[in-house]
Amino acid sequence: MASLTVRQLDDTLKRLLRLRAARHGRSMEDEVRVILRQAADEAGRDILDPSKPPAQSERQAKHDVTTARPRILLIIGGGIAAYKSLDLIRRLQDRGAQVRCILSGAAGHFVTPLAVGALCGERAYTDLFEPQSEFDVGHIRLARDTDLVVVAPATADLLAKMAGGHADDLATAVLLATNKPILVAPAMNPQMWSAKATQRNLAQLTADGIRVVGPNVGEMAERGEAGIGRMAEPLEIAAAVAAMTCRTGVLSGKRVLVTSGPTSEPIDPVRFIANRSSGKQGHAIASAAAAAGAHVVLVSGPANLPDPPGVSVVKIETAQQMLNAVEKAMPVDVAVFAAAVADWRPQHASESKIKKQPGRTPTLTLVENPDILSTVAHRETDRPQLVIGFAAETDHLVANARAKLAKKGCDWILANDVSPATGIMGGDTNTIHLISARGEESWPPQSKDEVARMLIERIVAALAGSER
Ligand code: CTP
Repeated sequence: MASLTVRQLDDTLKRLLRLRAARHGRSMEDEVRVILRQAADEAGRDILDPSKPPAQSERQAKHDVTTARPRILLIIGGGIAAYKSLDLIRRLQDRGAQVRCILSGAAGHFVTPLAVGALCGERAYTDLFEPQSEFDVGHIRLARDTDLVVVAPATADLLAKMAGGHADDLATAVLLATNKPILVAPAMNPQMWSAKATQRNLAQLTADGIRVVGPNVGEMAERGEAGIGRMAEPLEIAAAVAAMTCRTGVLSGKRVLVTSGPTSEPIDPVRFIANRSSGKQGHAIASAAAAAGAHVVLVSGPANLPDPPGVSVVKIETAQQMLNAVEKAMPVDVAVFAAAVADWRPQHASESKIKKQPGRTPTLTLVENPDILSTVAHRETDRPQLVIGFAAETDHLVANARAKLAKKGCDWILANDVSPATGIMGGDTNTIHLISARGEESWPPQSKDEVARMLIERIVAALAGSER
């Protein structure tokens, strides 16, 4: 076999090899051995053995995919929150992930490729065209050799480019070329976040199946600026990643829709009609479904809760908006309606504030809101396999819930007694009676998180047995 000496390599390659070897604390010869071993492993050694049929190496590859550590491609956008991405690399590695990084053009103003490369244990990728680099893996391979693409921070500009399908640098080219799930962690100034264009882009990305974690409310990097726009914390992003890469997830491959929170029906710009609801139970169900590996869309009315990690959250205010968002999320395998939807709305919402006039009380004419649960349960095409509603009752709990099951056409009703004495409204615990055509089951009083986990267990069993 011909021998290869480092001296015979060209200067650029020698320089890169020296840098890489120094970073790993190896001799240059040892580094070459490691590179060759990695290349052979990646290509599959079976390829070299003509006696083995190709099916064997395919099986082997499949086995590797299910047992290997999750591979995360982290795209760091050009925002001040990029400094948190260095911590995110560590958090992901703590959870066993292999992390590879791309820096967008602007990201280099906030973190250096050297720091990122040192944390990842391989160089950070920055340019779409690197003809001089012998190590260039190409944007298509970067896009495919991963289990999940994470964009953190996802700036307003990067979100706009993604929504528009741009591919004018390495980060956007990879995002367009990938066939893997994408999670974005937006981070920007509150004004930029609430700008119509950003919200339009985000709605487009959510509709395209891209998942979002954060942003959170808090202080901005700029002095005196506060509001919604802070990037989710690295631990929150890592939890979302874990939910999305959980290969053993009992609901992986399933789409789950959850409604949560109240709806708010405007009377005028300052007054509204709403139901009491904290959104805790609905959010807990969305979280538990995501932790079980499902792709979850949470359609939520105004609730003072953080977005559950790894869940696509669509925020709405009125019942009509909730219905529109629910229909947009279809088709799904399972739909859980935990929202407290206002049954009526004022026929006309005044555009200006209704002023008090001495001795005159305004009369409100109400019209009925659409019944979202009933609409989905009666769909003729793409009806979810399981449609689950809640029944918030203060009297004759089980009898009223059973009547609701029949009237709404759903498969299960989770009935709960919401009389003020129970403390369920806004509290952290719940006592559920599961009503279905097969009978009823009373669950013990437990936390809303426990209720969510128990419901997911029942859903998994029902989907496995195809029973309702
Ligand atoms: N629901 C809905 N759309 C509505 C009203 C209710 O999707 N316009 C759903 C709720 O999310 C819940 C179920 O229907 O899953 C039952 O809600 P509930 O408020 O208990 O019952 P209502 O249908 O409003 O009937 P009532 O107020 O007479 O008890």
